[in-house]
Amino acid sequence: MLLLSLSWAVIPKPLTMKVFATTQASNTAKLSNTFVVPIAGSNEEVLHQLGADHKLDVSWLKRDFKGEAGEVLPVYAGTKRYFLLGLGEKPAFADILRSFRILSYKWSKQLSPELIIDWTLGNVPDDLNAAADAALNGLLLGAYQLGKYKSEPADQHPLSHPDAEVCMLTDADISAALQLSQVIAETQCRIMDLVNAPSNYKLPSNLAAWVAQSGQQYAYRVETWGQDQIKAAGMHALLAVNQGSAHPAAFIIAEYKPAQAGHYPTVALVGKGVTFDTGGISIKPSTNMHLMKSDMGGAAAVFGTLEAASRLQLPVNLIGIVPSTENSIDANALKPSEVIGSYAGKTIEVIDTDAEGRLILADGLSYAVKHFNPDVLIDLATLTGSAVRTFGYVTGAMFTHNDDLADQLYQAGWQCGERLWRLPLWDLYKDDIKSDVADLRNFSGKPTAGAISAAKFLEAFVENHPAWAHLDIAGVAFTDSEVNGGKAASAYGIRLLLTYLRHLTKTA
Ligand code: BES
Ligand code: ZN
Ligand code: ZN
Repeated sequence: MLLLSLSWAVIPKPLTMKVFATTQASNTAKLSNTFVVPIAGSNEEVLHQLGADHKLDVSWLKRDFKGEAGEVLPVYAGTKRYFLLGLGEKPAFADILRSFRILSYKWSKQLSPELIIDWTLGNVPDDLNAAADAALNGLLLGAYQLGKYKSEPADQHPLSHPDAEVCMLTDADISAALQLSQVIAETQCRIMDLVNAPSNYKLPSNLAAWVAQSGQQYAYRVETWGQDQIKAAGMHALLAVNQGSAHPAAFIIAEYKPAQAGHYPTVALVGKGVTFDTGGISIKPSTNMHLMKSDMGGAAAVFGTLEAASRLQLPVNLIGIVPSTENSIDANALKPSEVIGSYAGKTIEVIDTDAEGRLILADGLSYAVKHFNPDVLIDLATLTGSAVRTFGYVTGAMFTHNDDLADQLYQAGWQCGERLWRLPLWDLYKDDIKSDVADLRNFSGKPTAGAISAAKFLEAFVENHPAWAHLDIAGVAFTDSEVNGGKAASAYGIRLLLTYLRHLTKTA
């Protein structure tokens, strides 16, 4: 047990990889002979150029390389090795990221620790800063490895090598974009470790330890309430969910303020921190229950955004609130039919103990509103199976009454490839959470409109905040993908929120 409780006490060494941009391949510190040539669409010019430079038969190249997103063709020419990398026609940020991630993940055995990404050969994307950011993000996420708990470590990815270097060959000055990209990717990898961690390695106390360490290292304030303080504050809904667990709940408050004094908007982020969701007495079927170790994906997105915002010194006051507990079962566990209280003072009839996320978020949200009065309030939660059934792994579900906020979050999502799609919050759905015996109930008892009625429930705890958005990320936080080796954490939300915040503060 000692080992377990110490597991997050040590922050892994940040990637040591050096990334830089230059106009001349000969300027690279260590000369590499491995080139990646990103190519948007069926660009024959670059193939002709390569053919002419190296006396290659262009017809072979044209036949075997179409430039589709994620397509890779290795070309060996003299002492040089080229990986032609398709990005697809008119590639967006997400296409570039995915293509580079595929190259990094699927071709890891062939890649070398020194890579030159040559943006001068192919048709360069319009926004080279964004393209370089996406490319580096893809390379670094593709180097992420599951299997942290294996006795025998897996083969090291070449880009995890201590002397790894990525050089971007370009005429433009993209160094700021590369720096930003590296910070985001490092944070995403740390957050993926956290979400992928088995449930015995991430009790609420471990989450608190993780963020305390992060705050210490990256200079933001972190405070964690234990069981007594949670009780004293009257967070009855969080306590009710925690009743059946052997491990105490934690209420985590993190706060980042820019080093330079000034007037900044205050944005509060609230994340669902259920470290494991058995469903409680309304127990889940066993088949996929192990996946419920990821039920703290919302909390993880909040932590990652705070860490990265602090490292990047974004001009915004950022609050992170995470109510954290297991949803477990023992003789003390919360039972369907119980009426519980809440921090806001409202009473809740518990119909289903598996609808626990909305209970703990209720306390987190009303605390955030009452205590910090933020300009913008955003919660992120792996809240409903309904969101997964509706959207699969493709987009998060967004709920808000504020059209401007909806627009900004939607745009941010499309820009960075962490998409959001809006669903209604109409009062037509209010009956779903009406209770005969208490102020409201936590489940309608019906198999319909699950994500919406969950959002309606949360709405009752935000005190009519004019700029509140609820993001149900159940489908996108922990996903199947071709580039992460099965079901695994996506780190969804970090880049989305950072993109939104950079637009909000006009530093984009
Ligand atoms: N954590 C789950 C939601 C979930 C499901 C997340 C699948 C990720 C993947 C949540 O606590 C839950 O169990 N929700 C129930 C609510 C229902 C009982 C009202 C659901 O959506 O089925
Ligand atoms: Zn649940
Ligand atoms: Zn849950």
